[in-house]
Amino acid sequence: MNETKPIVAVTRKIPDAGLKLFGDRYTVRVGNKVRGLPPREFLALVKDASAILALLTDKIDAKILDAAGKKLKIVANYAVGFDNIDLAAAKKRKITVTNTPAVLTEAVAEHAIALALGVARRLAESDQFLRGGQYHGWEPELLLGPELRGKTFGIVGLGRIGSRVAEIAALGLQMKVVYYDRGNRDRQLEQKTGAEAVTVRKLLTAADVISLHVPLTPQTRHLIGKAELESMKPTAILINTSRGPVVDEKALAVALRNQTIWGAGIDVFEFEPEVTAELLKLKNIIMTPHTASATREARDAMAELAANNVIAVLEGKAPLTPVG
Ligand code: DGY
Repeated sequence: MNETKPIVAVTRKIPDAGLKLFGDRYTVRVGNKVRGLPPREFLALVKDASAILALLTDKIDAKILDAAGKKLKIVANYAVGFDNIDLAAAKKRKITVTNTPAVLTEAVAEHAIALALGVARRLAESDQFLRGGQYHGWEPELLLGPELRGKTFGIVGLGRIGSRVAEIAALGLQMKVVYYDRGNRDRQLEQKTGAEAVTVRKLLTAADVISLHVPLTPQTRHLIGKAELESMKPTAILINTSRGPVVDEKALAVALRNQTIWGAGIDVFEFEPEVTAELLKLKNIIMTPHTASATREARDAMAELAANNVIAVLEGKAPLTPVG
């Protein structure tokens, strides 16, 4: 290994679309463990690196930044969310942090809508019913669920993904869209989709589908807890493709078990990769393993963007998508 070239530490194999951009200008070290490297191997991987290309599952804190050492210039997150990175510690050490916005918007928005439709029409339950040999012929009232057209779709957090979900819900499914974004309004989106800005309280009590699109911050942790779930309609469907801790998972399990809401579509978990055991027993929830952005297109584009951020910074140029 030629260690005189700048070292790029990639904590886990990402799509080749990104890796190949490094060419032979850098020494690229790639973590080789499926579940992430044990702490000592992680520290060895980042030692003397000029760049760390990290996953959302890697906690990048002061200890890791110091273990990398003085050459470290950038931490490029392979994710749009960056709650896994201690931004203050990076800033203090003058290390650039980047993420991968925009390129996964369509994938995540489509997944949120897929979950909403899947929960409404009980797709997972229907599939299990059929595979379990319970289907013995057409029945007038077998596995009924609500239609979404004409119902109200509530969006909490109107960033790129929330806005795209609003478009699909309003223009594709012909739903009424209401949204809450810390009191901000997007008049262009309102004009395009007929969306209405409302208070959180109004959104929770009026919406038939509630989809969460906020970053994880101290303010959004348990944004949806017992009280919020209790204020929802008994027909409400909760969708979470943002970050697990935004929802109090125990409270969600209680609401689903007691059927105080209709159902939930959950892609992210409070104690990921653990899932609250109670949820696994329930039929009125569809769970996916944090795969909302898992399209070939999105994951390749995320890899390219993360790599291009690294290359820009190591070449002394401005990062493409800095955060913080
Ligand atoms: C992200 O990029 O933050 C998403 O959670 C990945 O699916």
